[in-house]
Amino acid sequence: MILVTGGAGYIGSHTVVELLNENYDVVILDNFVNSSPSVIDKIELITNKKIKFYEGNVLDRKVLNEIFNDNEVSDVIHFAGLKSVSESLIKPYDYYNNNVTGTLTLVNEMVLNNVNNLIFSSSATVYGKPQEIPLTESCHIGETTNPYGTSKFVAEKMLTDISSANLKFNVTLLRYFNPVGAHPSGMIGESPKGIPNNLVPYLTKVARGQLECLSVFGSDYPTKDGTGIRDFIHVMDLAMGHVAALRNRKPERNLNIYNLGTGKGYTVLELINAFERITGVKVNYRLSDRRDGDIAECWSDPSLARNELGWEASRSLDDMLRDVWNWENTKSNY
Ligand code: NAD
Ligand code: UD1
Repeated sequence: MILVTGGAGYIGSHTVVELLNENYDVVILDNFVNSSPSVIDKIELITNKKIKFYEGNVLDRKVLNEIFNDNEVSDVIHFAGLKSVSESLIKPYDYYNNNVTGTLTLVNEMVLNNVNNLIFSSSATVYGKPQEIPLTESCHIGETTNPYGTSKFVAEKMLTDISSANLKFNVTLLRYFNPVGAHPSGMIGESPKGIPNNLVPYLTKVARGQLECLSVFGSDYPTKDGTGIRDFIHVMDLAMGHVAALRNRKPERNLNIYNLGTGKGYTVLELINAFERITGVKVNYRLSDRRDGDIAECWSDPSLARNELGWEASRSLDDMLRDVWNWENTKSNY
């Protein structure tokens, strides 16, 4: 049985679908702080399987114990956490509490219950301002610029130390690049609350006429068209990366770290153009100042995950944008 914390969230829900498709037994723990119970129903509709779920907080030892007592959990995939960079600047306590203390509490209860395999949702944000591109797993980490990024960095450090002191405890750190897209059914996808901070959710709201204009943050970066470059990865590829990490864990090391990216970078303008071409919808945008804390370019060298996990991203930018637009246009039907 695989415990998926945050399994009703954006990346978690797509991963649960893939796990169920691969015939893993799954139990979800989620407090729905950034999702809703209806996601569980949609996962059940997509997979035609029933899911066991607990509504609760990873900070709550009682619910963790209940889960470990009631289920034969072998592995935990830990998505539960808060993820908004801008909110983390206003509510740093909540970010450190959920992302750092939450992870520590979970690990402590795992060890006490003899559950020794953890996959942790990390982020390319731990690389801070990259000193070299593409980013490999051995690149320098740290010098994060906001509490969200620092919470991921601290959690990584903590898990690294725990894994070196407890050789029975297996840790896989997955550093995601920029997740985009939705399940091709259009039943699950990303639903940020309020005004989105991230590029694609903002762009789709502009395309639907719910927001007026997309600001392109910075057009004077040293890139081919002056706008920032990112490694956008389809959430379904990301989901499959978790299945690969679960299945192909290297037994010779108890700490494994992988970039989950495509290895290809696209500029913001290239993404907007691709969106317009695929959907036929014009996007109202204007070039504006750089956003504080942004970097010019960030893309991965994904070869370690390819070589060791046998995984690589197969979906294109066009696939990501087509699926995200399908989700935008069908989600109200479900
Ligand atoms: P999400 O907010 O959609 O999903 C997180 C889920 O965890 C939500 O369902 C939320 O209700 C739940 N949750 C949050 N705190 C909880 C707690 N204390 N106890 C129980 N449940 C809790 O986010 P996501 O995009 O699916 O991200 C999943 C993980 O991946 C997060 O840890 C995030 O930091 C990390 N990550 C996300 C991105 C991204 O761009 N989406 C990039 C890199 C890393
Ligand atoms: C940010 C976070 C990262 C987090 C990710 C997903 C940093 C440095 N990075 O990544 O930790 O995992 O969000 O939550 O904090 N852009 C615009 N206009 C917009 C929005 C974005 O031009 O309205 C541009 C940005 O300047 C950037 C690119 O689009 O060049 C991608 O931005 P975004 O989607 O916010 O992701 P990141 O900043 O890469």
